[in-house]
Amino acid sequence: MNGAQPFAAPAMNADYVASTPRKVPGYADLHRMAMLLLAEHAPSAADILVVGAGGGLELKAFAEAQPRWRFVGVDPSAGMLDLARRVLGPLAARVDLRQGLVDSAPRGPFDGATCLLTLHFLQREERLRTLREIRRRLKPGAPLVVAHHSIPNGDDAVAWLDRSVAFADRAGADFARSRLAAARMADRLPLLSADEEVAVLREAGFSDVALFYAGFTFRGWVSRT
Ligand SMILES: C[S@@+](CC[C@H](N)C(=O)[O-])C[C@H]1O[C@@H](n2cnc3c(N)ncnc32)[C@H](O)[C@@H]1O
Repeated sequence: MNGAQPFAAPAMNADYVASTPRKVPGYADLHRMAMLLLAEHAPSAADILVVGAGGGLELKAFAEAQPRWRFVGVDPSAGMLDLARRVLGPLAARVDLRQGLVDSAPRGPFDGATCLLTLHFLQREERLRTLREIRRRLKPGAPLVVAHHSIPNGDDAVAWLDRSVAFADRAGADFARSRLAAARMADRLPLLSADEEVAVLREAGFSDVALFYAGFTFRGWVSRT
């Protein structure tokens, strides 16, 4: 799957801004941590590549925190890019949004990159290709920040997804309902274990791979070219 299908429905896009912070533990803090991890190595007037930029939520957080950063954001979903334009408002002046996969991004080189809540949609080979294409666009030593669903090593994917689905359901703790949704997610998403995540980042040429964030099935790693 190319990942575009889940974000083709306008109704889903419309709900994205409200529903995503409910689903992802510490969502605003994830954006702040990602911004800080980029800022450690990026200059004050940095060029940042955002892959899977639809919705615009991390772009908005980064642009508000760093008034001199400029961005290129790529995403295959026209609807999610429209939403990003609306979410960004006047901040869109510093963002070049392009419809497509990573290949539609210019060669840069960029001072840093992020790929948030996106790689779990991609089969391992496409992840590897995407990560390699990101790396080709980064300056030497530049950071990459990724975060998405991943399963603890050797553990039961459905049990962990169940906890994430239940977390998103703020009405209570209905494990009969969340279990079904978790089983569907486990079928649909090509999830990797935490060790496999680190391996694919290294295979793509990234080093200093370090876990910086974990909340049920959501995990984030920072690495450098
Ligand atoms: C769950 S949304 C995450 C959006 C945003 N990064 C965030 O954290 O809110 C996943 C996004 O990835 C996009 N996407 C799917 N496959 C992709 C790919 N191969 N390359 C880049 N983006 C992709 C989808 O269109 C969608 O906008």
